[in-house]
Amino acid sequence: MRYSYDTVALAFDFIDKIFFKLGKNNPRKAIYNLIPNENIKVLDVCTGTGSNIINLARKKSLVNITGIDNSQGMLNVGLKKIAKHKLSNIELLLQDATDTTLTDKSFDYAIISLILHEMEDEVAFKTLKNTHKALKDNGKLIVFEFIIPESRKFLPNFAFKLVKKVENKVLFPAFLAKDKDEYFKINGFKIDKTHKFQYTVIYELSKI
Ligand SMILES: C[S@@+](CC[C@H](N)C(=O)[O-])C[C@H]1O[C@@H](n2cnc3c(N)ncnc32)[C@H](O)[C@@H]1O
Repeated sequence: MRYSYDTVALAFDFIDKIFFKLGKNNPRKAIYNLIPNENIKVLDVCTGTGSNIINLARKKSLVNITGIDNSQGMLNVGLKKIAKHKLSNIELLLQDATDTTLTDKSFDYAIISLILHEMEDEVAFKTLKNTHKALKDNGKLIVFEFIIPESRKFLPNFAFKLVKKVENKVLFPAFLAKDKDEYFKINGFKIDKTHKFQYTVIYELSKI
């Protein structure tokens, strides 16, 4: 993204709804469905306004959730939603993913969603390595990212074009072109399952 997240924080949930939550093939819902309602710990790395975890905290009350982000503006939007729904099983922390204190192998699941494509490799690799340290040995990582649309339908291609417009002109295409098996392998993860959507993808990964 070429804009500061503190600046776009108030508009983020509106844009998020249009791009990822409309229609029956909803990737946010798919992420939600991958996490069981059990006594487990979930870490949402670069959580933003909590798009993946607020609903999870509301409907899966056994799950204990931590979201980290380095934009207080984005976290403030998430904190308002937590207060509105009076949620007690979720906390949001102002932390940088490359320098997080949450590296004690205590999490059952981690989510990294819509951020790796914006990161320089050095930053992405530190983020992935810290997430590796945060997860239990049998912990699972869920990555949500963009892909080039495979269908020729107008809407997904139009949406993808809009995304391309606001993304970094070098990092975004470089990320799309990466061999993802190799990308995750050098950071200690293997892809177990891939779920493709119109212009996004969810990878389910485990530690090597
Ligand atoms: C596109 S938003 C995605 C937010 C959320 N994961 C989602 O799926 O809606 C990217 C988020 O990553 C955060 N971010 C970027 N670099 C970060 C870093 N090094 N550490 C923590 N958060 C970071 C930004 O502040 C922003 O909130």
